[in-house]
This record gives sequence, structure tokens and C-alpha cells, in this order.
Amino acid sequence: MSEQETSFRAPRGTYDLLPPASLEWRHVMGLAMDVFALSGYDPVETPIFEHTEVFERGVGEATEVVGKQMYTFTDRGDRSLTLRPEGTAPVVRAVLEHNLHRGPLPLKLAYAGPMFRQERPQKGRYRQFWQVGIEAIGVDAAALDAEVIELGQRFLRDCGVETTLLLNSIGHLDPDCRGGYLAELRRFLQARRDDLAEDDRDRVDRNPLRTFDSKERATVAVMKDAPLITDHLCADCDAHFAAVRALLGDLEVPYVLEPRLVRGLDYYTRTAFEFVSGELGSQNAVGGGGRYDGLAESLGGDALPGIGFALGIDRIVIARGTHEVPRRVHVYVVAVGDETAARAALKLATQLRRAGIGADLDLAGRSMKGQMKQASGSGARWAAILGERELASGKATLKDLTTSDQREVDVDQVAEVVRP
Ligand code: HAM
Repeated sequence: MSEQETSFRAPRGTYDLLPPASLEWRHVMGLAMDVFALSGYDPVETPIFEHTEVFERGVGEATEVVGKQMYTFTDRGDRSLTLRPEGTAPVVRAVLEHNLHRGPLPLKLAYAGPMFRQERPQKGRYRQFWQVGIEAIGVDAAALDAEVIELGQRFLRDCGVETTLLLNSIGHLDPDCRGGYLAELRRFLQARRDDLAEDDRDRVDRNPLRTFDSKERATVAVMKDAPLITDHLCADCDAHFAAVRALLGDLEVPYVLEPRLVRGLDYYTRTAFEFVSGELGSQNAVGGGGRYDGLAESLGGDALPGIGFALGIDRIVIARGTHEVPRRVHVYVVAVGDETAARAALKLATQLRRAGIGADLDLAGRSMKGQMKQASGSGARWAAILGERELASGKATLKDLTTSDQREVDVDQVAEVVRP
């Protein structure tokens, strides 16, 4: 390879996932899908790219995600396509396209995969990042909100991430609810436009709720006195929110009410929540979600309520701190001596693998000492040693690498003895 070719780097904001970090990723994603399955969520896969309109209409053109962060391109057929920046709009698009909502409701779907947003990279913020998420579609009962939120919190706890659950309701779009509130918020902001950070001033007319997301000190100070959505909910949204809180109380899910939590995507209605961690610095949201009762209609479908969340795997892995994952190699086969021992070792490793037991061995001609080092580095519980003496008697020496105890067993019995 020329020097130029070897100097390629992964694009800015992306990274390669290499062992052992990649093992932890698979472990966390597998755990998520298993925990979600316990509540009846089946896996769904949608394409990595969609027609751009799915996000423009689903997520909202006034959002940062659609306005500034999408990887959008025109293909050779002159279609505008976008690498998915999130998973909810695609899942709802798929549900509508395949009429899944004509069957029993709620639909419960789970996904795991890469998402793409052209943001300024920093710790915990990447241009290709991974999410696991669920969507529960077709039912607007508060019990579904409680189920979804409890599930997110339980999974995070199971995988060793301590988070605080922030909870809010942002009502719905009618004038007697969020619509009226937005008019009041806009009036409040217009009167204080000069006190806002300069970058936030154009949000006042375009998308006033977004001013709550600002991290600019001047804006944060203004927002302390801003009217709050929770004081302006209509009776139905208020009752829904009260029911969600009561059910979370029944399930002993701790939460903190955060009336300034508005979330960054336009499809949200009513319940909005975020799981935040103190381990992450400024990108402190490990995950977030909420209800999106109007999303299906904005994609041109029937009215179809829904609620879900997505959790960032990159951030979960940072917040977990411990990087331990179950290792797959259970037995390391060590051959001592000539070609006959090496052949017997390959045969024993193969027998173990066929019996469903993780096994590995040295194929690079290492000394016994070198092989024992490989064995302990592999995470294996056992070393199965095949030397001249063992081969002559059809036996293997099994060494328990956790206690250093040793014993001889028939080669054919190794699988039985070591089976976890
Ligand atoms: P979101 O809040 O945009 O929601 O993203 C969810 C999570 O994805 C974030 O809390 C964060 O952990 C992770 N994440 C987002 N952007 C990045 C990034 N640039 N780098 C690393 N991690 C990131 C959604 O995406 C909604 N679809 C969630 C949802 C599902 N709402 C209802 N159903």
C-alpha cells in the first residue's frame, strides 16, 4: 500500500468498534432486545435511508435535526434520500405502509441500529451513533406510557447505568392546550428578545419551545421566568399526565418532574421523558422518548397514537464504566509436543464446539508457556492440556484456571466435565 492509502481515517464523528469494546456493544444490544422481548416487543428493521420527506414531515422541518443535521443526498434516480437520524418516523412509516395497525393493538416493536446526524462531535456525540429503542403504537392509555417508561428505566439499571428520569407533559397542539401556551410563550420571549443569547433570537418566531433547550447562559436565565406548559394543559392532557404519574408511583418508578423538558423533535405530544446520567458531561441524556399521537397523521396515515423511547448505546457504554462482558471461550486447548498433539488439540476443540461449548486453541505454534498465556488471556475457565503422556492414555489434563486445580479426564469426557 502507498503511504497515502494507509493514511485513511474513519470520517470525523465516526469510529471503528474493535474488540474488546465491540463485545460490550453486542452484549448491551442483546441485553436490550432480550429485556424488551420480556414485555412483548418484537424486533423490527427498517432501511438505513428513507425518503427525505419521512423526516421532514415526521420529525418536523423546524427542528435542528431536520434543519441542520441530516445527511441528505440525491440518488441516481433524482430522489432525495436521507440517512435516518432517528428510528421513530421510519417505524411508523413501515407500520402504515404494511397496514400493521389493522391488526391487534398496541403494536410493540423494538429496534437496534445506527443513526446519523451531522452534529459537532464531542464526547458522547457522534455523527454515526447507535440506538436501541421501542415503539408501542395504536393505544393512548396512560398504562402504556407507564409500561414504556418503566421498561426503559429497568433496562438501564440491568445494564449498570444509574440515571435520573426527567418527566413532563407537553400537551397537544390545540389552541386550548399547547397551541395557546405557545402564543403566550412567544409573547413572553418577544418582550425579552434582547436578553436572549444572539443565536437563540430567531427561535422565538420559528420554534419558541426550542429556547428551553438552549445551553446559553443568557437564555437559560430568561427561561427561568418563562411560562410553563404544565400550567397550560387542557383538561384531557392534564388528566392523562396525572394518570401516568399515578401509575409510575404504583410501579415504584422514581422520577423528577421537569416542566422545562420539551425534547428536540416536533412529533411529541403529552408525555415526554429523558434518562440523564451524571457520568456524561454535557451530553448527559442517555435516552429519551415520549408520546407522538399526531405522527402517523403527519405521515399521511390514519390517526394512530404511539409512545416510545430510544437509548444511545455509545452513551450507555460510556456511563456503564465497567467494561466486563461474558466471554464466549470456555475452554482453551493446549497442545504440548509434536504434530500428533496439535492434531489432537484441533480435534478436541472441534468436538467441544460441536457440543456447543466455546473453545479456542493456538494455531501459531506457540510454546506451552505461550499457550498457557493465551489461555488465561482468552477469559476461558478451563485449559485442556494434551501432552505425550495424556495422548498415550487417551486423556486430557483439565486445569481450572480460576483455582489452578488439575485433574485428568478421558478426552471424550471433557465436554461433560466442563459444561457450564
Ligand atoms: P433523541 O432524544 O433524539 O430521541 O435520541 C435518543 C438518544 O439517542 C439520546 O438520548 C442519545 O443518547 C442518543 N443520541 C442522539 N444523538 C446522538 C449523537 N449525535 N451521538 C450519540 N448519541 C446520540 C430520538 O431519537 C427519538 N426517536 C426517541 C423516541 C422513540 N421517541 C419516541 N420513540
